[in-house]
Amino acid sequence: MNSEYQTIKLRIRDGVAILTMNNPPVNQMSELFTQELRAAIIQAQEDPGVKALVLIGTGRNFLAGADVTQLLQVTDKATMAAHLTVVHQGFQAMEQSPKPIIAAINGNCLGGGLELAMACHYRLAAKGVSLGLPEVKMGVIPGGGGTQRLPRIVGLPTALELMTGGKIIKSEKAWSLGLVDELAEGEELLDHALAVAKKFQDGILGWKTRVAIRRIDRLPSAQEKKHIIAASRQKLAKQAIGYIAPFKIVEAVDQGLSADPQADLAREIDLFGDCVVSDVSKNLICLFLSQRAAGKLPRIKGLKSEPLRKVAVLGGGVMGSGIVHLLLSAGLDTVLWDIDQAALDKARQAVAKSFAFQIKTGRLKPAQLEQMLASKLCMTTALEDLSEADLVIEAVVEDLRVKQELWKKLDGVCGARTIFGTNTSALPIGAMASVLADPSRMIGLHFFNPAERMPLLEIICAQPTSDQTLAAGVALARLIKKVPVVVNDGPGFYVTRQLITLPSAALYLLADGVDMEAIDRAVKEFGLPMGPFTLEDLTGLDIGFHVCQTFARELGPRYQVHPLHQAVHGLGDFGRKSGRGYYDYGGPKPVPNPRVREVVADYLAAQGKAPRQAREGEIVDCLLACAINEAALIMEQDICDRPADMDLAMVQGTGFPAYRGGILRYADKWGLASVHQELLRLQEKYGSRFEPAGLVRKLAQHHGTFYQQLGR
Ligand code: NAI
Repeated sequence: MNSEYQTIKLRIRDGVAILTMNNPPVNQMSELFTQELRAAIIQAQEDPGVKALVLIGTGRNFLAGADVTQLLQVTDKATMAAHLTVVHQGFQAMEQSPKPIIAAINGNCLGGGLELAMACHYRLAAKGVSLGLPEVKMGVIPGGGGTQRLPRIVGLPTALELMTGGKIIKSEKAWSLGLVDELAEGEELLDHALAVAKKFQDGILGWKTRVAIRRIDRLPSAQEKKHIIAASRQKLAKQAIGYIAPFKIVEAVDQGLSADPQADLAREIDLFGDCVVSDVSKNLICLFLSQRAAGKLPRIKGLKSEPLRKVAVLGGGVMGSGIVHLLLSAGLDTVLWDIDQAALDKARQAVAKSFAFQIKTGRLKPAQLEQMLASKLCMTTALEDLSEADLVIEAVVEDLRVKQELWKKLDGVCGARTIFGTNTSALPIGAMASVLADPSRMIGLHFFNPAERMPLLEIICAQPTSDQTLAAGVALARLIKKVPVVVNDGPGFYVTRQLITLPSAALYLLADGVDMEAIDRAVKEFGLPMGPFTLEDLTGLDIGFHVCQTFARELGPRYQVHPLHQAVHGLGDFGRKSGRGYYDYGGPKPVPNPRVREVVADYLAAQGKAPRQAREGEIVDCLLACAINEAALIMEQDICDRPADMDLAMVQGTGFPAYRGGILRYADKWGLASVHQELLRLQEKYGSRFEPAGLVRKLAQHHGTFYQQLGR
């Protein structure tokens, strides 16, 4: 008998019950879905005319797992455990079904979707669809039996790699791993599934031996298991510092995969609970949601950007060549302009080299690269060749006059709708817009180095930038698969201004006798990829100093350059590129630069100060308080207004630890009253650089948070 549930359609064909899962908008698991699936399966099992069941999804998804926004609300383990127990019972009932159940994986089969498929007796997948258990990326572990079934199907080492890395694989790869039993063309999937059902009916396939939770053939011996677990823990100890879920996955398999699956599954639920109530999980889920919301601004809601078919890049240096890489990868017709043939030749080499990884991993063949460069990339020294570009991205030397001259010339060459984007790191976008006949078409498109790899695109609106131009900037980000964060024009925009607070505050500690290496160590320990002095060395002390001078000039006395900064800069050791900066890079390992040490010692002596020890906590509090304060000032000055975007930008653009959620989420957790107190203490000790911003004071007084006061 055919039946319609809200989320499942059941129809019978040739003695096979086909259960089509359809829970819009993205076919996700929900409480209702779990109940209805159970009911539909029982209905099919009880129907004497039905000999086998086929589960299939709708649209692009087989089943896309649970709705992560619901996980955000979970605050106690017990409620979660009760819900997961029902899911587990459903999956176990499927495994014990008196009739075989076939998963016909038509589309994305992720998280709970794959766990459902693993509880089926046969997995047939359409070619090219994605499978995986990416829960770890949301800070949780697979909670629907995944930790116990996947290792039994693909073996422990592979399962650990997939689960702890949250890796998503294509069905072809899943087939080679044994996760999928058979592949089919998408349009033939259902017919294939019916053929498999027939094989079960005819006894060619037996389903009772195909129950994943009972399989032991791919499980390692006790000794092997010990080694695999130890190796995994060792790897994670280096790679997953600060995270919880990867370690809980290892714990689930270490204590699990036993002869008592019931106990193992119950433990998985418990470990899932530990993760889901943690701050780490909440932070990761919020970042995921922020990423989904990035670029969706009320200002451009419903606005369609003009199509971007042809994009031109000015300057094929470090940044320009990376941007060309992105445009070509997105299949766009690309024009690269540079000053002379020698610059173009160099740029072509750099573009080709930027595809080395794709070539090495076989994703691109050398001949395909050549073909792409020949057919999609036009290289020129004549600006007239840019006349048909829908968008021009400028990445020439950081010199306002040079850039303005180019824009003036292009204004006469390009069409009336061409969008002009500049990749300047710090020059005012408004000053560039001012030379155009129509300044509304200018926007900042700030890429990060290396452009082809860094996920963030900071989009900067100048005062005259139009909504249409902004919509085009966001559309570009989507085309080239970048995360767009939109901010307003101002010195250092958002990311640079925010990031520079760390070395700036660190200088006050250095000038107070705190050891440079101890500061770098504490910041790394906190979770940033490197300490502030190592960061300065990497970006170049000359560049950092120049930015600080600009801030002092344009943002006021709070930003005056610290005299110790002046003194260190005066040495002329500009960082890695000159072999020496705060550290000396001449030996096998960087060591503190003795010349900087001497300058610091002289400074301390002149101030009557002595070197002193500082706890890690003191260092981190000082730097983070300064960073939080800067974020508040940035909001007050209307550079940014969405805390979620600011946090996303720092995580994606600078490597701020995702598990901490970002600077503002960290501030909310710390408590604005405590941040305010810390700033007052620092202000008294070090002066106006740390004077609390009005917004921090206000939030502290009213027990507010950045996120609640300002919305997500
Ligand atoms: P680069 O030195 O590697 O490339 C500069 C490009 O400008 C070259 O293609 C060069 O031929 C061209 N050029 C030189 N003189 C010129 C002139 N008089 N007129 C027109 N073009 C000229 O520089 P990079 O690092 O690629 O920087 C380019 C832009 O991107 C700059 O505005 C920089 O501030 C910005 N930026 C740089 C980042 C980085 O980490 N390197 C990060 C983000 C932005």
